[in-house]
Amino acid sequence: MGIRITPSILNSDVSDLRGELAKIAGADWAHVDVMDNHFVPNLTWGLPVVEAILPVSPVPLDVHLMITDADRWAPAYAEAGAQSVTFHAEAAAAPIRLAREIRKQGARAGMALRPASSVEPYLELLPEIDMLLIMTVEPGFGGQSFLDSMLPKIRAARAAADERELDLWIQVDGGISRQTIERAAEAGADTFVAGSAVYKAEDAAAEVEALRALAEA
Ligand code: DX5
Ligand code: ZN
Repeated sequence: MGIRITPSILNSDVSDLRGELAKIAGADWAHVDVMDNHFVPNLTWGLPVVEAILPVSPVPLDVHLMITDADRWAPAYAEAGAQSVTFHAEAAAAPIRLAREIRKQGARAGMALRPASSVEPYLELLPEIDMLLIMTVEPGFGGQSFLDSMLPKIRAARAAADERELDLWIQVDGGISRQTIERAAEAGADTFVAGSAVYKAEDAAAEVEALRALAEA
């Protein structure tokens, strides 16, 4: 099974993305939050920035699209070389077609759920995706508190995947830290985004290892 630590560069020093990425060479992926100021009330970066950091990142990129027009843009990130591309279920007009397109471009397909979205309406889709991202904060900003109320959703998703014998990764994003990662892992998450926990730490690389050890325990 295994677990993965995927630090978010959202709240890193964006004036030195190359240097910030170098700090997390011991992580599994770098999580890149794309926001369009429509799906969420915040704006970050898009395809040109992802294309620019792909060749300088020591780890593969995990793109989290918080954008309204996911159907149009998600395949382009896969084509550019992101190893994983995640769209929001609430944004995709044709999620099955979109997941297939992402996979066709050679990336892993992820689908994300906002805190208010339950997993039940999407159970039929699970065989079409490689990863389900369960937001554990309202998407848009780093540094928010982990929502313990999402733990039953993580459990339900893990049970549904097990029942269907799917090799589905379950990623959690928002408020993951040394204080919360064990609860998320115990509920069934295996892939952990951590933004402020890693980039606010004195030693980002050591923080990645500390989180990994807690999640594996
Ligand atoms: C928020 C983003 C997250 C964010 C997490 O919408 O999707 O990836 O960077 O930041 P922390 O770990 O600080 O909650
Ligand atoms: Zn994210």
